[in-house]
Amino acid sequence: MGGSAAHGELVALGAVKGLILSGGKGTRLRPITHTGAKQLVPIANKPVLFYGLEALVEAGIEEVGIVVGDTAEEIRKAVGDGSRFGATVEYIPQDQPLGLAHAVKISRSFLGDSPFVMYLGDNFITGGISAVVEQFIEEGPEVLILLKQMPDPQRFGVAELEGGRVIRLEEKPVHPRSDLVLVGVYCFQPSIFEAVEAIAPSARGELEITDAIQWQIDRGRQVTPHVVAGRWIDTGKMDDLLECNRVVLDLLPETRLGTASDDSRLLGKVILQEGSEIINSTVRGPVIVGANTRVVNSFVGPFTALYHDVLVESSEIEHSIVLEHTVIRGASKIEDSLIGRDVVIEKSDTRPRAHKMMLGDHSRVSLA
Ligand code: TTP
Repeated sequence: MGGSAAHGELVALGAVKGLILSGGKGTRLRPITHTGAKQLVPIANKPVLFYGLEALVEAGIEEVGIVVGDTAEEIRKAVGDGSRFGATVEYIPQDQPLGLAHAVKISRSFLGDSPFVMYLGDNFITGGISAVVEQFIEEGPEVLILLKQMPDPQRFGVAELEGGRVIRLEEKPVHPRSDLVLVGVYCFQPSIFEAVEAIAPSARGELEITDAIQWQIDRGRQVTPHVVAGRWIDTGKMDDLLECNRVVLDLLPETRLGTASDDSRLLGKVILQEGSEIINSTVRGPVIVGANTRVVNSFVGPFTALYHDVLVESSEIEHSIVLEHTVIRGASKIEDSLIGRDVVIEKSDTRPRAHKMMLGDHSRVSLA
């Protein structure tokens, strides 16, 4: 008996596909997104997109489509054919970011008649999605949406529940009917295609997934809620990225693949990736120091992630994310910052003593 149930489950699981949305504009994360995909910004030195892909694979979903936009090449280069993750990945180009429901619409030939899990490529949740996928397979609702209790629901899509089902969805309501907001993970049956074909673009010109789900609710179809107990972070903004980095650094185990000189002090959890070097410095964890990154005569404080090939010299930095190939030299204190790739920040001794900058469009600098 148990054997046949397990077999049935395997067959059902095999049929569920994954769809990761990795296009979009990323306006809230400029200037980082002028030159790179926001889904590849590292959280504790791993692109945020990888956490979602790993969660799908862990839930038994191995056939994954990734919707890509302007940053398609970069995403392809980072993820490849998916074999590294135990998945087969197919790329689905979206000419323009015309909305989450539009992304579903253009993925029809990849998805075929399979039920699927849609995962927003810049969203992060702790605890994985195995329980969610199991519930979706066992109960077989038309739609299963992930919800999270939030203290400020008016900033999000809000769900109203009645008798264990979702009866209404509202985008950024002024007077929210509940504190349950839509998390960026959804499970759909192929009936969603009927809905995405039927709806019209919203006031902002996008095909909204909330409208497509509401269309199904209005036709009496079962939309089931699944309230997430763990953390959920939409990493589309800098503050949320830093918060996500903090959460993940707290969870990671300590590994020491780099080296620290005798005159350095490593306090608390300090993760040193391959080829990293700490010289005459104090590092107070949780901190992650990326491959071939050097910290010299410096202080690196809690909740900092230095990506690979970074140099921090004669500086102090904490609660920040620094992307690859950046040099920080002589900075007295940097905190709560997201610093891009190939950036140079250095103290100058030439007169007049002034801040001299070359900043990309939409950069933000707070001077002490
Ligand atoms: P959003 O963060 O809602 O949109 P955005 O990427 O355009 O960002 P911003 O609001 O800062 O301008 O998108 C959620 C995820 O879905 C993100 O990973 C991008 C992706 N996406 C698509 O793939 N196609 C789309 O048409 C849209 C709107 C988003």
